[in-house]
Amino acid sequence: MKLFLDTANIDHVAEIASWGILDGVTTNPSLIAKEGKDFKETVLNMCDLVGCVSAQVTAEDFEGMKKQGEEYSGWHKHIVVKVPMTTEGLKALSSFRTKGIRTNTTLVFSLNQAILAAKAGANIISPFIGRLDDAGEEGMHLIADIMAAWKHYDFDTEVLVASVRHPDHIREAAILGAHICTLPYDVFLKLPKHPLTDTGLKKFLDDWEKYKK
Ligand code: E4P
Repeated sequence: MKLFLDTANIDHVAEIASWGILDGVTTNPSLIAKEGKDFKETVLNMCDLVGCVSAQVTAEDFEGMKKQGEEYSGWHKHIVVKVPMTTEGLKALSSFRTKGIRTNTTLVFSLNQAILAAKAGANIISPFIGRLDDAGEEGMHLIADIMAAWKHYDFDTEVLVASVRHPDHIREAAILGAHICTLPYDVFLKLPKHPLTDTGLKKFLDDWEKYKK
């Protein structure tokens, strides 16, 4: 399973990349706005640290998405153009596929949307499970449906579990065989932790101190 960081904070990317387990970064307009830094500079700084950085188009029409996506993809070979799941977005995905531009389809909330994006040639689809949970649905059921459907076909589209809220989402996504999870920084920090690791290590070190005396 690939693990991505969901952020526009370069310090956070550098920290998690230093663990040696970070496969990519996803950004979105809200995350970029939160940091308040230059979009292109932020994305390029991230490209120096990881091999896959999703940069989202903000145009809503096909021509605008095409123009932005072609520009972004020219900035760095690590850039993946993030396209919203709309009919205009589908047209853009098909166009990017023919040009060899890698894409990530964002705001996927149903299996039918996932199938359309895959057929349009998306390299990655991003179902937002936390937002489904927030709306009173079971977001992980969507991942289960997509992974079950993917077994019947030969889509080469990777399933990226997005809008992750807590570590158990990663555990469940892994059991379902999802290809990628993108995690907020605070969830990433929780992943290595277990109380029994902490107490176990303390006992080892206390015993070692006693032995040395
Ligand atoms: C994914 O690429 C999105 O940036 C992200 O996971 C959205 O999550 P949110 O629901 O926490 O905003």
